[in-house]
Amino acid sequence: MNLKEALQFVEPHLKKSRFEHTKRVVETAVDLADFYQADIEKVELAAALHDYAKYRDKEEMKRWIIEESLPKDLLEFHHELWHGPVGSLLLKKEAGIKDTNVLSAVRWHTTGKAGMSLIEKIVFIADYIEPGRDFPGVDEVRHQVKLSLDLACWMALRNTIQFLMSKKQTIYPDTFHAYNDFTSRLS
Ligand SMILES: [Fe+2]
Ligand SMILES: [Fe+2]
Repeated sequence: MNLKEALQFVEPHLKKSRFEHTKRVVETAVDLADFYQADIEKVELAAALHDYAKYRDKEEMKRWIIEESLPKDLLEFHHELWHGPVGSLLLKKEAGIKDTNVLSAVRWHTTGKAGMSLIEKIVFIADYIEPGRDFPGVDEVRHQVKLSLDLACWMALRNTIQFLMSKKQTIYPDTFHAYNDFTSRLS
């Protein structure tokens, strides 16, 4: 599947605004892949497909998590997190995507995890900083992203954790694991 085919594949599954977001994530991710010498074809494919499962019915996602042995603890956390792991699963089933680099970048874009690969980091941060994003702290991360990708990811995770805490929301353990991993790498 090439970029054009991937965008055509996801478009019917997304709201217009989400499809526009997806195209901006692709542009941002490709720019970073070029800068950090990552595999551009894999990065653009993962970026194009990353929100594939975003609008799947909650009950359907719940079923996939249970039936396909995705981590059950996901069900105890906000359903917004589910479209990463469920998306990765469905892209394998419904789009025939086999590339583990692409699938894992989709898999981890909602939570992060310890030991993220270059492609995973690029998709994660491109989703966070694409030019349509406008929330406190995002410009600081944009400024950092070509100085240190790890520091930019650390900032995004810190901001996300702080935001969730300020809203008295739970935080998925892998998000803490990602934060801790980047913290120890950077110190
Ligand atoms: Fe997403
Ligand atoms: Fe996204």
